Amino acid sequence: MHAELLDRVVLVTGGGSGIGRACGQALAAAGATVMLCGRTTSKLERAAAGIAEATGRTPAIHTTDVSQKAEVESLVRETIERFGRLDILVNNAGVSARGRVAELSDEVFDRALEINLRGAFLCARAAWPHLAASQDGYIFNIASYAGKHGMAGSGAYCASKFGLVGLSESMSEEGRDAGVRVTAICPGFVATPMVAGAPVAAEAMLQPEDIAKTILWLLSMSRVSMVKEVVLSRTGA
Ligand SMILES: NC(=O)c1ccc[n+]([C@@H]2O[C@H](COP(=O)([O-])OP(=O)(O)OC[C@H]3O[C@@H](n4cnc5c(N)ncnc54)[C@H](OP(=O)(O)O)[C@@H]3O)[C@@H](O)[C@H]2O)c1
Repeated sequence: MHAELLDRVVLVTGGGSGIGRACGQALAAAGATVMLCGRTTSKLERAAAGIAEATGRTPAIHTTDVSQKAEVESLVRETIERFGRLDILVNNAGVSARGRVAELSDEVFDRALEINLRGAFLCARAAWPHLAASQDGYIFNIASYAGKHGMAGSGAYCASKFGLVGLSESMSEEGRDAGVRVTAICPGFVATPMVAGAPVAAEAMLQPEDIAKTILWLLSMSRVSMVKEVVLSRTGA
């Protein structure tokens, strides 16, 4: 348990699998009260049961599509009604989007931007007043190595993640006087369902727990710390 997390409330988007689930588990194990959201209720229920078994603390769940403003507002409202505060937002929900730019459909491009970028913006905006009220608020934006380096076949995904890094840096500046810290986390390949079928062996990739440990490490720093970005990569992609 981390004494400083015992009275903290954490919202993890895309918490039903992969990195989001690992972050929810690590934060619950550290003593925080955790709310997980995602679009698929059964995935959230499975994740919450697994976290409860591993940590003895059962996360709350809320079925939410982060690209839908009304659903995001309802998620934050319910978090505050149930727990009275919100201290940490892990903006993790995301989708992959493959295809060379000349062949990309409008739908694939728009979906990547709507979920990976606009979704993170909607969550941050709805959570901001509560994070500021906490005076020790923190937003982790799970961007990507693809938010730092362009890659063939990933134009829509890279655009969404480059956008998220820019949004994150701006929020970090705005948070300086508001008591809200903001860090973009930019991992290369992480062994999760998103990259099943990637041309890299899962053992050669970062593990979801590596991202969770990075978050715990950043939370352990003094309140005056301002780490705008962390880039982690084992595979160079
Ligand atoms: N795996 C990697 O190599 C890697 C590397 C760098 C960055 N990332 C980023 O890390 C984040 C987590 O990905 P992951 O690798 O852990 O993959 P994952 O296991 O597929 O997790 C993504 C989660 O986001 C949820 N989600 C997707 N669209 C959503 C929406 N509109 N509203 C709410 N939740 C939504 C999914 O659940 P539902 O479908 O049920 O909603 C899923 O639980 C993503 O932002 C991804 O871009 C991943």
